[in-house]
Amino acid sequence: MKVFIDSADLDEIRQAFAWGVCDGVTTNPSLVKKAVDRRKAAGEKLNMKEYITQILKVAEGTPVSLEVTELSAEGMIAQGKKLFAMFNPVAENVNIKIPVNPAMKNEDISHFDGIIATSTLADEGIPVNCTLIFTPEQALLAAKAGAAYVSPFAGRIDDLLRKRAGIQFGKSDYFPADGLVQKDALLEDNGIISGIDLVRQCVDVLEMYEFDTEVIAASLRNPRQAREAALVGAHIATLPFSVIRDMLKHEKTFEGIDLFTKDIVPEYVEMLK
Ligand code: G3P
Repeated sequence: MKVFIDSADLDEIRQAFAWGVCDGVTTNPSLVKKAVDRRKAAGEKLNMKEYITQILKVAEGTPVSLEVTELSAEGMIAQGKKLFAMFNPVAENVNIKIPVNPAMKNEDISHFDGIIATSTLADEGIPVNCTLIFTPEQALLAAKAGAAYVSPFAGRIDDLLRKRAGIQFGKSDYFPADGLVQKDALLEDNGIISGIDLVRQCVDVLEMYEFDTEVIAASLRNPRQAREAALVGAHIATLPFSVIRDMLKHEKTFEGIDLFTKDIVPEYVEMLK
């Protein structure tokens, strides 16, 4: 499984690439806002074009998703082309993030505008990451439209299931991949019993029909979910910086290094000088 960093924070992206474990970057408007707010709060003046250029250079050789902000098919296509023309020449690693269905409750936007934008951009050779996927059937249509990637949002399905059941939870709290029983009933959203189950079903459908589209397990909030995304065959997990960092932690690893350190004999250290 490839590991992407889900961040628009240049410092986090630099660090994750320096660790040598990062295979790509995903951004979205909320992540860009978070990064921009942090820099502004630190008194920095931000040149957005220069900032994105730097992200692309740090990630050179690996894909970076940049998201559109328009909602109509025409708007998304125009922005997608512009983003690609502006930024792909930097390091040839840009893909365009398109919401699978930008309709909301706005009747001016059709439920297929995301799919139309995906297929139009894909036909022009622009790789698309089709995002905000909450069902395998959305993933299937996105793949048919030519998406290079689909991004099921695992954590947000877990949020939905817990919210509907009236369960209090923190954003990074673990939700069982095999589902949660409440009042003798398994929580589910139209046959999806957890975020990881959503990822599994998307992978199964796309692999069964041999699509080239890769599944990016997104909205993962803790290391156990990253593990489970790997176990269900996600091609990629996009992870917040904090989750990548926490994946290495275990109390017995800390205890073990403590014990080994106490047992080092001077002759061994001398030999290595
Ligand atoms: O890549 C999607 C991700 O940024 C959303 O994460 O935790 O806000 O649901 P989250």
